[in-house]
Order: sequence, then C-alpha cells, then structure tokens
Amino acid sequence: MTAPSLGVEIGSLKLRNPLLAASGTCGYGVEIAHVVDLATLGGIVTKGLYMAARDGCEAPRIAETPAGLLNAIGLQGVGIRAFVDRVLPRLREHDTAVIVNVCGETVEEYAEVARIASDAPGVHALEINISCPNVKTGGIAFGTDPLMTRDVVGAVRKASALPVIPKLSPNVTDITVFARACEEAGADAISCVNTFLGLAIDVETRKPRLAFGTGGLSGPAIRPLAVRMTWQAARAVKIPIIGIGGIASASDALEFFIAGASAVQVGTMNFSRPNIYAEIESGLVDYLTRHHIGSIRDLVGTIRYPR
Ligand SMILES: Cc1cc2nc3c(=O)[nH]c(=O)nc-3n(C[C@H](O)[C@H](O)[C@H](O)COP(=O)(O)O)c2cc1C
Repeated sequence: MTAPSLGVEIGSLKLRNPLLAASGTCGYGVEIAHVVDLATLGGIVTKGLYMAARDGCEAPRIAETPAGLLNAIGLQGVGIRAFVDRVLPRLREHDTAVIVNVCGETVEEYAEVARIASDAPGVHALEINISCPNVKTGGIAFGTDPLMTRDVVGAVRKASALPVIPKLSPNVTDITVFARACEEAGADAISCVNTFLGLAIDVETRKPRLAFGTGGLSGPAIRPLAVRMTWQAARAVKIPIIGIGGIASASDALEFFIAGASAVQVGTMNFSRPNIYAEIESGLVDYLTRHHIGSIRDLVGTIRYPR
C-alpha cells in the first residue's frame, strides 16, 4: 500500500502537510530554523505585523498555568516593511509556506499591511489577526463584532489576491456568527482559534501575574474548547477551517481533523518541544494507514454522532 497523502489545499494555498507553526510562537520562522527543519512543516505563520514596529507590553508577559500558558505580549514586532526588507529574504531560503499574520488598529491599516505583504515575493497567504486580547486598540474588537469582522475581512480581501484567512476569537458566545461573517466577506479559510481571555493573580501581592493584567490562555487547557469551536465553525461554513488550540500530539491533531479542520497549527508546544512536527506527522501517517484512509483530506469532518 502506498503511504497516505498528507497534502492539503487551503483555497489556492497548497501545503505539503497540514501542520503549521502558529503565529507568535515561532517568531518569523527564521528564529527556529536551527532547531526545526522548516521544510518539514506545511508552513509557518509569522508573529503579528502592524505598519510600525511595536515594543509590546511590559514584563512579565508570560505566566504558566495548569496545562497552559497565559500571555500578554502585546504584539511586539518589527513592522511590515522591516519584515519584508530584512526578514523575508532569509525566510525565502527555506522551502515552506509563509503566512503573514496581519494586524491593524484601523481597517485601513489592516488593508495597507495586507497590500505590502501581498506585493512581497515569498508570502503565500495572509492570516488576519482580529482576535488578539492583549492590545488596547483594534485586535479583539474587530473579532467580537460581526460587522467589524466583515469590514476588515472585506477590506483585506480587496487589497490582496492571496488567500485570506481571518483568525477567529474564541471570546464570543456564538462562533458561527463570525465564521459566516468571514465567509460572506470573501475569506478563503478560517483559523480557529486565538487565545481565551484569562486572569491569573499572585495572591501574596494580590496583583495580576501579568503586567498587562489579563492575558490570553493557550496550551492543552484550551483544547476541548477549541475542538468544539472548530466543529461548530466547520458546520457553519463551506470554506476550510484551520484548527488551533492545545495540540501536543498526533492524537490531538486528529481530533481537530475529525471535528472538521483541514489543517492545524501548533502554538504553545513550540516553546517546550519545537521538534514535535515530525512526531505528529508520523503519528498521522500511522493512523491513516491503520484506518485504511488514503488521504488526510478524507478524514476531515468525519465525526460520528450521536454516540
Ligand atoms: C506567546 C504567544 C504569542 C502569540 N502571538 C500571536 C500573534 O502575534 N498573532 C496571533 O494571531 N496569535 C498569537 N498567538 C496565539 C497562537 O497563535 C494560538 O492561536 C494560540 O496560542 C492557541 O494555540 P496553542 O494552544 O497551540 O498555543 C500567540 C500565542 C502565544 C502563546
């Protein structure tokens, strides 16, 4: 029997495998290239980029929590022009798909960042960050109001011919409303999900453990929530879903595919096990072989219910 296929298509974006490194957990890709062969990944999603460089939040910006991580980095970054001029040429040396995580404080800024990224050779798709909980303006506001979601996705859609992939916030009551808003505004796929708004308190000082106060929760703690939201979003729209949240093994990734994801992203695990991709890839191949499934595409959305 020939080996099962792991190749997937997200709109016009062809990925050699469905495993992507999640935004903010792998820098701009080049930082992790000495530990992970980027050519073994389907692709990497860059840290969020605005027009200008940003310093992000004061430290402490990270706190460990049970089975998770609370962060308020505040979208520190070099800005889109510096990324295109100074980082992208180094990233282009690696044979992997590059997805730029697009940020903005206004709809116009999102569109401008998207336009500059799209004009740069070596960018394969745009992920629109409408879901960052750790900034004072923009960010999550765009992802928790369906009309703002529609506006920003529509503006980026007009500004770029690349696949447009809005990244949904889980901090909403009904994620299907936002998934549909993205589809109607012309998105090619949806990333699902960003971090969950949380608060950790140092009881001795009675101060929040993060300087920003609240933060975004990620890691295995959020996985069942993210799988549920991926399942809901996949049933609400026809465009592909990229599942994200707490993936730490092939079995975790499989849950997302079965729930309806066409690809997945690994985030928090990059900090402790940056080499996890090879293990997940071989686990997927083993599973597909054992279940006589020829392609990962045939597993997508095959959840059986009710029990
Ligand atoms: C330290 C850190 C920084 C992040 N920065 C970004 C970012 O710049 N843009 C974005 O869209 N998501 C960002 N995220 C969210 C992740 O891409 C991912 O959606 C989230 O962590 C859930 O996946 P995980 O549980 O596998 O980490 C960040 C997450 C962490 C932990």
